[in-house]
Amino acid sequence: MDKILFVDSCIRKDKSRTLILAKALLNKLNGDVECLDINTDRPLPLAEETLALRDKLSQESKFDDSFFRYANQFANADIIVIAAPYWDMSFPAVLKSYIEQVSVCGITFHYTNEGIPEGLCKCKKLYYVTTAGGYTENMNFGYDYIKGMCNIYYGIKDVEFISAEGLDIWGNDPEKILSDAINNI
Ligand SMILES: Cc1cc2nc3c(=O)[nH]c(=O)nc-3n(C[C@H](O)[C@H](O)[C@H](O)COP(=O)(O)O)c2cc1C
Repeated sequence: MDKILFVDSCIRKDKSRTLILAKALLNKLNGDVECLDINTDRPLPLAEETLALRDKLSQESKFDDSFFRYANQFANADIIVIAAPYWDMSFPAVLKSYIEQVSVCGITFHYTNEGIPEGLCKCKKLYYVTTAGGYTENMNFGYDYIKGMCNIYYGIKDVEFISAEGLDIWGNDPEKILSDAINNI
């Protein structure tokens, strides 16, 4: 049974369209879903003291320390679903903090002798789910960043973008756009 990690970065829990779309995707996937709500769990951005602690733990190879729980969980998932609304042409800041915690040399990637990053993640497929008030078009910076991290650092080559867009544009029918996006999964 595949281990599916669901990284929920949706902020508006009771009415998030992104969460609805992500749940429709999760319903179609086969596996055990582990939910990580990063608005409840709130990974913190790295600061001077946490960076120093991370360096110390890494130098001592204490990669099973709970400090690295996000990175270990990410590295061990077979499938990952990240759900994040399109905010300020990217995604909510808490997701960037999460990525900082996940990007640990020795857990999710390492460097080859030639100094090239090489992925250590088990994940065979990552889905990035979003909804946008307008259109992401060529300003899909959030997705592009996650895809870049997956391809270059984590070794996750198969990354798929799923979205419903134009939801806040006057005259559009957001319910229909969302149900079409769900049917397209
Ligand atoms: C803080 C914030 C920033 C946003 N930034 C953008 C943006 O840059 N471009 C855009 O098209 N929509 C933007 N939106 C609209 C959201 O993308 C849209 O409403 C989305 O469907 C919200 O997802 P949710 O229903 O899961 O909360 C923004 C909304 C908020 C609250």
